[in-house]
Amino acid sequence: MADNFESVAIDRIIINGGKKLYGDVYIEGMKNAALPIIFATILTKSKCVIENLPSVSDVILSLRILKDMGASVKYIDDTTVEIDTENFEYGTAPYDLVSKMRASTYLLGAEIGRFQKAKVGWPGGCDFGVRPIDLHIKGFEALGAKVSIESGYINALAENGLIGNQIYFDVASVGATVNVMLASVLAEGLTVIENAAREPHIVDLANFFNTCGANITGAGTSVIKIRGVKKLHGCTYTIIPDMIEAGTFMVAAAAAGGKVTIKNIIPKHMETVSTKLAEMGVDIEEYDDAITVISDQKMNGVTIKTLPYPGFPTDMHPQFSAALCFADGISVVSEGIWENRFKYTDELRKMGANIMVEGKTATITGGFKMTGARVKAVDLRGGAAVIIAALAAEGTSEITGIEIIERGYHDIVNKLAALGADIHKDRVAVSPLNIV
Ligand code: UD1
Repeated sequence: MADNFESVAIDRIIINGGKKLYGDVYIEGMKNAALPIIFATILTKSKCVIENLPSVSDVILSLRILKDMGASVKYIDDTTVEIDTENFEYGTAPYDLVSKMRASTYLLGAEIGRFQKAKVGWPGGCDFGVRPIDLHIKGFEALGAKVSIESGYINALAENGLIGNQIYFDVASVGATVNVMLASVLAEGLTVIENAAREPHIVDLANFFNTCGANITGAGTSVIKIRGVKKLHGCTYTIIPDMIEAGTFMVAAAAAGGKVTIKNIIPKHMETVSTKLAEMGVDIEEYDDAITVISDQKMNGVTIKTLPYPGFPTDMHPQFSAALCFADGISVVSEGIWENRFKYTDELRKMGANIMVEGKTATITGGFKMTGARVKAVDLRGGAAVIIAALAAEGTSEITGIEIIERGYHDIVNKLAALGADIHKDRVAVSPLNIV
């Protein structure tokens, strides 16, 4: 009998597991470098051409926010965008757009840096437990801004302008480091960030700014010095390759088996991932801008602890957990950044995984039979984890919630299909009562 709810269309990824992967895959520009650079164009007040932009929904959303706020945004080709922020207007970010994405916090730093005031809705993003912004606020306040939170908006005002200062972060936060760089690049005098994040995307942001006439040194170390300049100019800039997309394909090849060459990457950024895969018994061959992964699917368990760069990336742990379900022996995965990043393990358990989570540590006993199931992407990298498990498992998996995966992976279905995976996307009508 029909229920009282109208059916809704949902997109799914269908995977028939057990196919080995062979061939080359090209990696796109890095999402987490593209996002701060897109918002950084606001500080240039002029025209920038950004190349190697990944076509993922978080990037498209960021460009849409800039466009809605008065910037001119033109795609020159699939991966190149011209952004002119001369007519960008402060405080006009649509609430429903910024509340979808964590990187909207970068609007705060960009608006403060350009207008000495900001008004931005509370940011969204993946749910890993509490995601505070106290360090961002501490940074803005050190530069002379007063920050308040009212009716779901974060407001900031630097009545006497922004003046460089020494800022020490208790935690090496990527977002707070980016935001202080955005807020201080045009401030008066010298800003020094101590215990700054050292991720490659921080270096990319500094390189972008310096190409536009900024004076930033030390990016990539834990002390970044930003000497404020009077103005920036536009530039043409190419985003670095995405180490997390690259790592995801490396782990997929390890778990599903086969031989895959990951192209257009910076192998140095992949060191922790390559080393861990080698420790699991997977063969890794490194070239100038590519890595080949050769796997006979015989893997052994390992211990992983995520840490800020150059430690093991938290954004790679779910994918490794998925692969470790197929490895011999016991693995221990400890999360050193986020308080609750193990929601995806419920999905892996539906496929037969033996994973115990206690606090911030998961213990995975490998070798239990993994079979296809109806599973969902609970967050971006958790979604990549279920795809990897489904590629290596026996039988058919149906993955829902794929719009979350599309926030950070462009064309993942076609890229895997080109490597020989039996994978496709479809759209089905379901009753809201049946959505898992
Ligand atoms: C960024 C990445 C995310 C990645 C994370 C860590 C983007 C868009 N997202 O997120 O994919 O998982 O880096 O590599 O680039 N913290 C505070 N106070 C703050 C800010 C952060 O205590 O004000 C803490 C967080 O709770 C967390 C740690 O610092 O424990 C790291 O967070 P942070 O580096 O800021 O992550 P994001 O920039 O949000």
